[in-house]
Amino acid sequence: MRSQLDGAGGLRHLATLDGLGRDMLVAILDRAESYRRFPGQPAYEGRELAGVTVSNLFFEPSTRTRASFDLAARRLGAHVLNLDMQSSSRVKGETMLDTLYTLEAMNTDIFVIRDSEPGMPDFLIDHVAPHVSVISAGEAHLSHPTQGLLDVLTIRAHKRRFAGLKVAIVGDIRHSRVARSTARALGTLGTSDLRLVAPAALLPEEAEFAGAQRFTRIEDGIAGADVVMMLRIQKERMASSAALDEAAYFREYGLNGERLRLASPSVLVMHPGPMNRGVEIASDVADGPRSVIREQVNNGVAVRMAILAAIAATLTRRRKPL
Ligand code: CP
Repeated sequence: MRSQLDGAGGLRHLATLDGLGRDMLVAILDRAESYRRFPGQPAYEGRELAGVTVSNLFFEPSTRTRASFDLAARRLGAHVLNLDMQSSSRVKGETMLDTLYTLEAMNTDIFVIRDSEPGMPDFLIDHVAPHVSVISAGEAHLSHPTQGLLDVLTIRAHKRRFAGLKVAIVGDIRHSRVARSTARALGTLGTSDLRLVAPAALLPEEAEFAGAQRFTRIEDGIAGADVVMMLRIQKERMASSAALDEAAYFREYGLNGERLRLASPSVLVMHPGPMNRGVEIASDVADGPRSVIREQVNNGVAVRMAILAAIAATLTRRRKPL
């Protein structure tokens, strides 16, 4: 695995949460908490990224991650380039490397990349200049590190602990980069009771998610849970989703009010978005009193500010003098 830290132990790149220890995660969460502002409050405005240029390269659709990286960078004083990849020169055959070098020549300091191809963040890390950093905004089905961080920030805000929590992840785990990164963050922070709930075809390979319990009945998996995280079915990562009966899926696996009563009375209902109401989650549960789904979105901006600020701090050590 490539090192994501610089020689002084500071965060240089963020491609994955693998290999990042508890102290690093806690420091990021603490910093994110200091940036968090709730709807109705004035947003944090700082200069941590003054003179820094961030280029957002999203080769897959996104609402939350793209908007929050943009806001996070601007609120810390960065110049931000949101490249429209549908109208970029990659559709004319330009290679990813030539796109990278072109934007580096325009003084990009930090690339934020979302791509459906496994390995793309590491590929960029291998090729960027020594003073340039890379942040993954979602790598295929493998990793979504800032989503994992915002999920654990949301859980910490309510539960104040990770050890002893019962966390159920329900839905298309096989194709979910969110599940992989959130499970990794939870494990690093001390949660050992992780339940994976899905039809057999949507559970991950046996070798993945070491130590997690597997369930094919949602009622069994969410019983007594402190956190229930619902996932959408990711048709875009399936060879064929034609046979998927959404009404039948909702009957078998959808989170409704009756099922939610099986979980802890203080359960948190989470969903990374985008949601498919009436497929994996009932609308009254998504908007109900146990839902923290919009808090997750709010925390996403704070977490991305924390990551950008941490990387900008190491950037100043690597920049060339004028
Ligand atoms: N959770 C998440 O990654 O949402 P977007 O696809 O809208 O960025």
